[in-house]
Amino acid sequence: MAVILTADEALEKAAELILAGNPIAVPTETVYGLAADATNGEAVARIYEVKGRPRFNPLIAHVSDMDMADAIGEFDPLSRLLAEKFWPGPLTLVLPLKAGARIHPLVRAGLDTIALRMPTGFTSCLIARVGRPLAAPSANSSGRISGTSAVAVDADLGARIALIVDGGPTPVGVESTIVKAEGEGLRLLRPGGLAAEEIEAAAGVRLERGKTAGLEAPGMMASHYAPGAKMRLNASAVSPGEALLAFGPARAKDAEGAKAVRNLSPKGDAREAAANFFSMLRELDATGAAVIAVEPIPAAGLGEAINDRLRRAAAPRDIEGASA
Ligand code: TXA
Ligand code: MG
Repeated sequence: MAVILTADEALEKAAELILAGNPIAVPTETVYGLAADATNGEAVARIYEVKGRPRFNPLIAHVSDMDMADAIGEFDPLSRLLAEKFWPGPLTLVLPLKAGARIHPLVRAGLDTIALRMPTGFTSCLIARVGRPLAAPSANSSGRISGTSAVAVDADLGARIALIVDGGPTPVGVESTIVKAEGEGLRLLRPGGLAAEEIEAAAGVRLERGKTAGLEAPGMMASHYAPGAKMRLNASAVSPGEALLAFGPARAKDAEGAKAVRNLSPKGDAREAAANFFSMLRELDATGAAVIAVEPIPAAGLGEAINDRLRRAAAPRDIEGASA
């Protein structure tokens, strides 16, 4: 059973467990991460075990400063500009792996690139304390909703890990935005907690979207973030017994007949909605409703990441090896 310690008392215990090769759950600004020493293959393998994650899903290596990042990834000018502008923060950059980088190959799952992110808060202190990058996928079992609170992580993974560091609810609430430089341009591999528009404004180029050849971000497969309930998107009316995930001030027709209602943002703010997204989805799923109806959510800003995750949550569940 996991011990839960608050972020201000957990640093020494967390560092000790990490250096001994154990995965632990840590708060980041996006979602909780299941972190382990990225230089230790057995420690990384334990992450895959705890999550029950398909082996081909590569992990993000988290760093605490630019020197550590430079020792792992080859930065092109555009990626460096984005790192300088948005790190620490909810942005992950996919870069060619630097020769001699001390990253265990299991972290990359065989790719010759590495996903790098510099988080804020407790996790950053922990990385600096252990002096090693931490591999950390979201702290949830494979295919389940990402944990945005210590309680949610405990319910899902508590029986399988030694420590959960409680940093309170995660402020951003969805995973980081993943971007990869391609030639002179940038490709959006996963919309997330940093709005694509902000990246485009800083970089001065449009983000390419859509599929590339091969499995560029394997965790981006269709059936991810699957709750137990079926999801019905863009609902304009609620059928009796459905749970309702609402957004904004106006309600879908017959909302008073819903089994339960959660409003992502009564004032219609996408950032607030992102922060509430996984916890509200989890709460509605816990009501046992067979269907969660979801009101339309505009695609601007963080709405893109929310809609992306809604589509995954609504996708058929029988896809082989789906989800991270
Ligand atoms: O906010 C976040 O990014 C959280 C926190 C804990 O940092 N982490 C997270 O990790 O969401 P995870 O493992 O759930 O998602 C990582 C995504 C996956 O879709 C994976 O396929 C992709 O990053 N990825 C990792 N390495 C990659 C690479 N070299 N090339 C392309 N995609 C990569
Ligand atoms: Mg994940």
